[in-house]
Amino acid sequence: MNQSKKLTLFSTQIYKTKCLSKRSKLFTELADATERLYAGDIEGAKWSSEHYKNGYTSYGSYDQIHLMTEPFLLLKNKIDQHVKNYIKMLGLDISLDNLFMSRFWVNVMPKGSYHAWHTHPLSVISGTFYLQLPKGASPIRFEDPRFMFFMTRPSLLNKTPKEQQNFYSLNPQEGDLVLFESWIKHEVPMATQTDPRISLSFNYDLKR
Ligand SMILES: [Fe+2]
Repeated sequence: MNQSKKLTLFSTQIYKTKCLSKRSKLFTELADATERLYAGDIEGAKWSSEHYKNGYTSYGSYDQIHLMTEPFLLLKNKIDQHVKNYIKMLGLDISLDNLFMSRFWVNVMPKGSYHAWHTHPLSVISGTFYLQLPKGASPIRFEDPRFMFFMTRPSLLNKTPKEQQNFYSLNPQEGDLVLFESWIKHEVPMATQTDPRISLSFNYDLKR
């Protein structure tokens, strides 16, 4: 009898859920509020031209959108519940009361825009809600946090399950919410489609 037993240790957990139906009133209100914000944000367009090549983000202008317009606040309230679930899933010794949404912003990514590899320093939980994903829109890609320690480890076979590969491309649907720990490195590869990929991103930080 084979006595060997597989033990998976130090796993990285990403949370993905259908947060909102595309047919819901709130989804339409969010799309409208995002478009209004994007269309009227001259300062943000200037900031984006310097820091977010070929795209738009309100990260440098409006980064507290949940305090600006009701639909964003209503979405934040929904996200709170999922962050609560994720904290439990991760086994962190905190509750939602120990965290607050520190930043919440809009991303609009047409053809030629991308978001290079990065983490969200000083935050605990980060994530994105997906509003518009045209056909061919880029995924969000995650890097294996152990990657820099592999040294002489041989490369993996192509047939190795994608969950065991060193990079994972997650293709969400419109209305989906993705949460990850803020230290996990991720990127959005360059957009090749014309219609913009539109998302709302956020950070949760520890209360001091
Ligand atoms: Fe990010």
